Amino acid sequence: MDDRNLGTRLFVIRRLGLPPTNTLSTKFIGIILILLFTLSACRSIEGAPKMTDAATDTVPDRTDAFEMNDRIGRGVNLGNALEGPREGDWGVTLQEEYFQLIADRGFDSVRIPIRWSTHAANETPYTIDPSFFERIDWAVQNALTRDLVAVINFHHYEEIFSDPSGHEERFLELWQQVAAHYQDYPQELIFEILNEPHDKLNTIAWNSLLMKTLNKIRETNPERIIIIGPPKWNAVNQLSYLDLPEDDRNIIVTFHYYEPHHFTHQGAEWAEGSDAWLGLTWDGTQSQENDVITAMDGAKVWAERHDRPLYMGEFGAYSKADIDSRARWTAFVAQSASERGISWAYWEFCAGFGIYEPDLKIWMNPLVEALLPVE
Ligand code: BGC
Repeated sequence: MDDRNLGTRLFVIRRLGLPPTNTLSTKFIGIILILLFTLSACRSIEGAPKMTDAATDTVPDRTDAFEMNDRIGRGVNLGNALEGPREGDWGVTLQEEYFQLIADRGFDSVRIPIRWSTHAANETPYTIDPSFFERIDWAVQNALTRDLVAVINFHHYEEIFSDPSGHEERFLELWQQVAAHYQDYPQELIFEILNEPHDKLNTIAWNSLLMKTLNKIRETNPERIIIIGPPKWNAVNQLSYLDLPEDDRNIIVTFHYYEPHHFTHQGAEWAEGSDAWLGLTWDGTQSQENDVITAMDGAKVWAERHDRPLYMGEFGAYSKADIDSRARWTAFVAQSASERGISWAYWEFCAGFGIYEPDLKIWMNPLVEALLPVE
């Protein structure tokens, strides 16, 4: 992102030292350095992502979570694979080449949704199937070895949404195993506690469960960056209902954005009544753009007030909408987030919302260009 690049540029200039030169060019370089420094100071006042102390020689006013959020940058979800009841059930089996394609195309990170709950015993100690761990290790390593930050989560633990207290012990024990298993992995592996809490896992129940889970994870991973989202499906307008421990600064806060829902979910088989929404377009009218701007500004205000970095961990428009509208919406949402220092992951790589057509082995270029515009 901009600030990181600026930081890197300053760092490079410092490390290289000033070349042997005449007084005029020394003054010129001095002026540039002052300008860059002033610019960076203005940006940090605005609350934009931090610059590293190595780059500025100032006391950092942000924590590592902000740096890591810059590195998450622009990513994609490897959806419909490992969060199906079994990998492959929903049409996607991850391939090594997917990681390479994603890295080569210029994405910074992947979010890997995972359904641990169908790969573990139902009785204490709720042992996770070792072969499933091996498969997740494979996915994580494929990401990390390609310099992609990897976010792993708990996804579609359906039973906990209808019976939070009945599944609390199992959920915590599963997290204990996952956290212990990955405790020696590099910091570029990030944990996300639970995708889209909803139903009976309501605001009060979620705030209680997330704190217990965080404490459990911190026993083995005292400093790993952990992603946590608000209740009610991680909706952006629920951020103010999220309770986080003030003293844990190694947290990134996530939200999902699929508004207008009738546009992004038109014709989606799992969204009741969605056939009636078919044909809705997103034309980038002032009022349509204003809705996105209002949501992103609201998120940014919340983030600045609480001094937390933000990650838009899911956003996307289903393939039943027309491609021009999808591309316009995707570009505007992604850009609006990036401009506010919000990292993101598009939902998703190669299924119904996908940016890649795996059978034909081609990118859906209008969507990829919407996400990663040529600068
Ligand atoms: C769900 C997916 C769904 C997507 C968009 C995700 O959180 O896990 O199954 O396709 O949201 O609705």
